[in-house]
Amino acid sequence: MAKARTRWTCQNCGFQTTGFLGRCTECESWGSLVEEVLQIESASTSAKGITRSVLAQQASNETSKPTLLQDLKAAHSQRISSGIPGLDEVLGGGFVPGAVILLAGDPGIGKSTLLLQVARHASASKEVLYVAGEESATQVRIRASRLDMHDSNVHVDTQQDAIRISETMQEFANGIAIVDSIQSVFHRELTSAAGSVSQVRESAQLIINSAKAANVATILVGHVTKEGSIAGPRILEHMVDVVLHFEGDRTRQLRILRPMKNRFGSTSEIAIFSMTEVGLVEVGNPSEFLLGDRLDKLGKKQAASGTAVIATGEGSRTLLLEVQALVSATTYSAPRRLANGWDSNRLLQLIAVLEKKVGLGLSRADIYVNIVGGLDIDDPAGDLGVGVAIATSALDRSVDSSTIFIGEVGLTGEVRPVVCLERRVKEAARLGFCKAIVPSCNLPINIGSKQMEIVGVDTLSQALLTAMPGAELARPAKDTKNEIDFAALMADDYPVDMRPRI
Ligand code: TYD
Ligand code: MG
Repeated sequence: MAKARTRWTCQNCGFQTTGFLGRCTECESWGSLVEEVLQIESASTSAKGITRSVLAQQASNETSKPTLLQDLKAAHSQRISSGIPGLDEVLGGGFVPGAVILLAGDPGIGKSTLLLQVARHASASKEVLYVAGEESATQVRIRASRLDMHDSNVHVDTQQDAIRISETMQEFANGIAIVDSIQSVFHRELTSAAGSVSQVRESAQLIINSAKAANVATILVGHVTKEGSIAGPRILEHMVDVVLHFEGDRTRQLRILRPMKNRFGSTSEIAIFSMTEVGLVEVGNPSEFLLGDRLDKLGKKQAASGTAVIATGEGSRTLLLEVQALVSATTYSAPRRLANGWDSNRLLQLIAVLEKKVGLGLSRADIYVNIVGGLDIDDPAGDLGVGVAIATSALDRSVDSSTIFIGEVGLTGEVRPVVCLERRVKEAARLGFCKAIVPSCNLPINIGSKQMEIVGVDTLSQALLTAMPGAELARPAKDTKNEIDFAALMADDYPVDMRPRI
């Protein structure tokens, strides 16, 4: 029987002890001690194989000599296609042999479904090992038949022992291995439970070593904790080559695959899928999918109060999305400001600009902002649309449904330039939008369409007045130079109720 020496190390200060302590005696932090394998004294037969292969790898590393960059073999030609074009794009052109990919996501989002589909496609050209640590072979079989993959050449293993898995991986040299999930795998030399920080780290290390030694492109599934980070140590993200997040809105069957780290490609590409009866299907035209019935109303109706359409850039894609805002009188001592899919600090900043620079009285209002479709948007070009959505809700007005808003809003209320404006406006024109309100400093642009009216604006107030002609703001930005009238602000007769007169 293998005998491993383990130690408990404080992740805070590095203090080491032979047994578990709830609190570090050095730095006094609670729950910071993690068990680590120190060495395997007499490896069992199953452990020997992998230990030997890792040693061989280390030995080859030791004897390796520096090589001229121009003499190094390029790895691009060796990419393995996953059979799912969107996933290949996110990976930067397919799997790199020997690369380790961490696929993280909420339970039930569709990680196992996606990977089984990948296994089916990849098994046409490569040997594929699917380690189902969480499900029984029968469960995998049921899912596979749902995905109509009876004939596929995938090897399913329900093993949970990390040493055994890494040993099996040696038989799949130059192939693909899928470990679903890393939290279900355990390292038999550790006393802590599967899924604990030390188990996840040590098991992952074994599997990664094996992947590199046998040149197996490996995908590890990782669960996401309630706080949204990958369960297990953050160090897992540093150990792997690619980190992919699978996220989405369960109610709309929409799933987004987003790279958070990629050693072999860009992290700005995303892939959008829809969960159907027969597994995940890539959405070819995400903007149409996300805007839904709003597209049918273009030009026919005013948009609903509190809504606006923005164009965000995600890698080589432009996504058109609807922003919804609700402004209502608060009953709380501190008004609530909630953002769903939008950065909450950016929301607070926009509200401050709307108050001071546009003159909307929002200090006693609860404000909710939602990006429809369940996407998390991190693009400042959406500022203008979010600002307009909040203002229309506060004013109880609406904008023309075929207008799109693109621009970053600065702290002085100015509309700042954005990148790739032409591409964003072109996509809006393609979908039938007729008017684009954009930063004037970005102009002129040439989109090759006469249908689209392009209006440049300098400030958020100007954008609002353009989109809602006739709207009277309580304290219109009389200062085109964006100066704050402090005297008026401090005067006793300054209106307490700053609500706009429409
Ligand atoms: P699953 O891949 O098991 O999620 P994860 O591995 O991330 O926990 O996906 C489970 C959900 O997907 C489940 O709610 C059912 C749904 N589903 C479909 O809608 N269609 C399908 O073809 C399959 C296989 C699953
Ligand atoms: Mg699963």
